[in-house]
Amino acid sequence: MSLSWTPTKSDLEKGLRGLQLGDVACDTIAISTHCSTRHAEEEPLVTPIYHSTTYRIPSLEHYMKIVNDGGNLYIRLGNPTCQAAEATLSALEGGAGAMVFTSGMAAISTVLLTFLKAGDHVIACLPVYSGTQSLLEKHLSRYNVEVSWSNLDSGVEGYRELMKSNTRMLYGETPCNPLTTIIDLEAFGQLGNSVEGLLTVVDSTYAPPCIQRPHQYGIDVVIHSGTKYLSGHSDVLAGVASTRTLEQWQKLNVCRTTLGTVLSPHDASLLLRGVKTLPLRMERHCRNAEKVAEFLASHQKVNKVYYPGLATDKGYEVAKKQMKMFGGMVALR
Ligand SMILES: Cc1ncc(COP(=O)(O)O)c(C=O)c1O
Repeated sequence: MSLSWTPTKSDLEKGLRGLQLGDVACDTIAISTHCSTRHAEEEPLVTPIYHSTTYRIPSLEHYMKIVNDGGNLYIRLGNPTCQAAEATLSALEGGAGAMVFTSGMAAISTVLLTFLKAGDHVIACLPVYSGTQSLLEKHLSRYNVEVSWSNLDSGVEGYRELMKSNTRMLYGETPCNPLTTIIDLEAFGQLGNSVEGLLTVVDSTYAPPCIQRPHQYGIDVVIHSGTKYLSGHSDVLAGVASTRTLEQWQKLNVCRTTLGTVLSPHDASLLLRGVKTLPLRMERHCRNAEKVAEFLASHQKVNKVYYPGLATDKGYEVAKKQMKMFGGMVALR
C-alpha cells in the first residue's frame, strides 16, 4: 500500500504566507515547517509528538483514500511527527523527499538493501565510516553483492577505473570520516549519470544541508547520521536519507516499512528541535574548527592536519566550490 504514498511536503513548498521554498534561506526553512493539526485553525508552533501506534479509520472510503493519497494507519508506515521532520529535511536538502530512520546505520542499511540485489557490484570509497565498511564487507557480501574499494586519493577517476557492467552503485562520503577527504560532487554526479541504472549515494554527515547539498550535483541519495549535527544535542540516535526522485523515495519507503527502521516520533521531535538551530550551530562549529586546524597546523608536535578549510589541504579547491563552509571536523597525525 505504501507504494502510492508520497512524501510530506514542507509548508514552504506549498507556499506559506506568501513565501515559497525558493524565496527563503536555509535558516528560514529550518524553523518554518510545521505539522498542521488537520482540523484546527490554530497551529502549534512546535510539532506535537504523536505517540499513537494505530489510527482509527472511520470508513472503508477513508481507508482507500489513505492507501491512495497517503495518511496514517500504523506507526511503522510513518507518523505525523516523523513526517514533519521529513518535510523540513527534504526542503533543506532540495530533493524529492526525505525519510527518517532509527540511526545513521539504519538509513545506510535500508538504502543498500533497497537499491542493491544479488549479483550487483558496488564501489565504495576508502576511507569510509567503519560501520559502513563493515556492513559492505561482512554482511552484504554474504548476499552476493560484490564490493570494490576506491581509494579517495584517486578521486572520482578511481571509481571510473573500477566500474564494470554490473556496477549499480557508487557510494561516497564527503568530507569522509575520519580524514575529511573531499569527493568532487560534480564529477561524481556526472559519472553516476553517465550510465543508466547507476545510483550515486553520498553520506554527507560531516556536511549537513546548510553547508552542502549533494542533490544539486545530481547525486541520487543523500544520507546523514542525524545523531550528529542535525540533532545537535547528543541526545538522539537518528538517520536521514533524501532522494533525488519520487520513485526512489517510494522504493525506499517500501523497504523501510518492511525492515521497520522508521524513527520513533519522540526522537523525530528531538531531531526537528535540533534542526531549528542547525544553521547557527554550523557557523560556530566551522569557525571553531578553522581556528583549531590553523593552530594544529603550526604546532611542532603535529605532523599533518586534515581539514578541507586549510588552503594547503588537497581538497581545499573542490571544497570551496561545493561547500558553503568547511565543516567542524578536523583530523591530525
Ligand atoms: C559518516 C558517518 N556515517 C554514518 C554514521 C553512523 O551513524 P549512527 O551512529 O547514527 O548510526 C556515522 C557515525 O559516526 C558517521 O560518522
